[in-house]
Amino acid sequence: MTTGSESEKKRVVSGMRPTGRLHIGHYFGALQNWVRLQSDPSYDCFYFIADWHALTTDYANTFGTAIESVQIAIDWLACGLDPNRSTLFVQSAVPEHAELHLLLSMIAPLGSLERVPTYKEQLENIKDKDLHTYGFLGYPVLQTADIVIYGSGASEIVVPVGEDQVSHVEFSRELVRKFNFHYGLQFSRKLFGKSGMAVFARIMEGTNILSLTPAEGGFGRFRVNLKKEIAERIGQVGYENFMTTFDIPRDLIRHEQVLLEPTSLLTASPRIPGTDGRKMSKSYGNAITFAESDEEIRAKTKAMVTDPARKRRSDPGNPDVCPVYDWHKLFSPPETLKWAAEGCRTAGIGCIECKAAMADNLIKWISPIREKRIYYQNRGKLVKEILEDSSVRARLHARRTMLKVREAMFGKDRIKRRSFTGKPMQELTKDT
Ligand code: TRP
Ligand code: SF4
Repeated sequence: MTTGSESEKKRVVSGMRPTGRLHIGHYFGALQNWVRLQSDPSYDCFYFIADWHALTTDYANTFGTAIESVQIAIDWLACGLDPNRSTLFVQSAVPEHAELHLLLSMIAPLGSLERVPTYKEQLENIKDKDLHTYGFLGYPVLQTADIVIYGSGASEIVVPVGEDQVSHVEFSRELVRKFNFHYGLQFSRKLFGKSGMAVFARIMEGTNILSLTPAEGGFGRFRVNLKKEIAERIGQVGYENFMTTFDIPRDLIRHEQVLLEPTSLLTASPRIPGTDGRKMSKSYGNAITFAESDEEIRAKTKAMVTDPARKRRSDPGNPDVCPVYDWHKLFSPPETLKWAAEGCRTAGIGCIECKAAMADNLIKWISPIREKRIYYQNRGKLVKEILEDSSVRARLHARRTMLKVREAMFGKDRIKRRSFTGKPMQELTKDT
């Protein structure tokens, strides 16, 4: 392969569930990172709106997702994601995710799914939704499909996620290993030809497996039985062991990584608490969205919690325990930071002026994003086109992976034939 070819690129894959408008917490927690990765030429970025995932925790709400998806895409574009550099698409527009999810679900270990920390946590904490479903338990299986379906032709898959998602990626790795173990063995035709006979004799030496005699069900049956036998033995002793023990040329039996094991990319994201000091979340009403006006921003920041020990103007405070100061660190220039920290510790400034200065800088920071947001808001058709074009592009990659997956699981011959009636299957399954 020549340099710069697609196969040397690393894939970046990440998704976001369409659950409400995005806010500045999403920017610092994920988007900033996504934008940075798209400008690194060694990465090919795939970012998607995980609309099927949203159903795993809220199947009753299917109305919002289409509109919500466009709104999220608008936020993404406003924050600097570039459809010419990243593939920005919608999960449900690539139905191959569902096919891979189904196939992976067959081997997904229940015990591991039940042990995923977010599963137990959410089951215990979320009481207003029905989480006792197959779909919710299988969330990490779908997430695995989302990720590894973009691995074809890549050297590596990297998943930028927050801390809470690392266990999901770990699960993905385990599932991929199991998949490759079961379906990664590839038998060359040569194994059943002349040159394979010696190998075959070595493997069979000292065993007495009657079912392997060709007479019993024709050569086809014999081949199937032989493959089964070899796979079983490799399962017991391991591929490497097996191959060296019987001195088998590597091209006769290969062990392929059909799917790539993804790795999570945890980038330290700065802490941005909500206005009340808790984790920023739309449902707590403590977030600032990208669409908010100056007035709304001023009103919300004015009401922010501060160092609780600073009760009166004359009490010195500690900026390190104050959410306002956390925000200063993200939006204010160094001199303002210094002014705030010193003024706070010496009671030289009051919280009201400290917050006002921070709000000025937040507004300065958010203004260009907000303007871009309005630009795309007024061009809904363009945004939908971006999502559609990207989804088509994503689908080409997903299809390539699915060809490999079907071939590994069901065999090349069966895939090629495609049909039992002789009619080309493609016509039967053509998308309309
Ligand atoms: N589970 C992720 C979240 O809740 C969203 C998600 C779905 C995702 N599929 C993914 C993230 C694949 C990374 C890769 O935030
Ligand atoms: Fe927080 Fe600023 Fe008040 Fe100090 S002066 S407690 S940093 S708002």
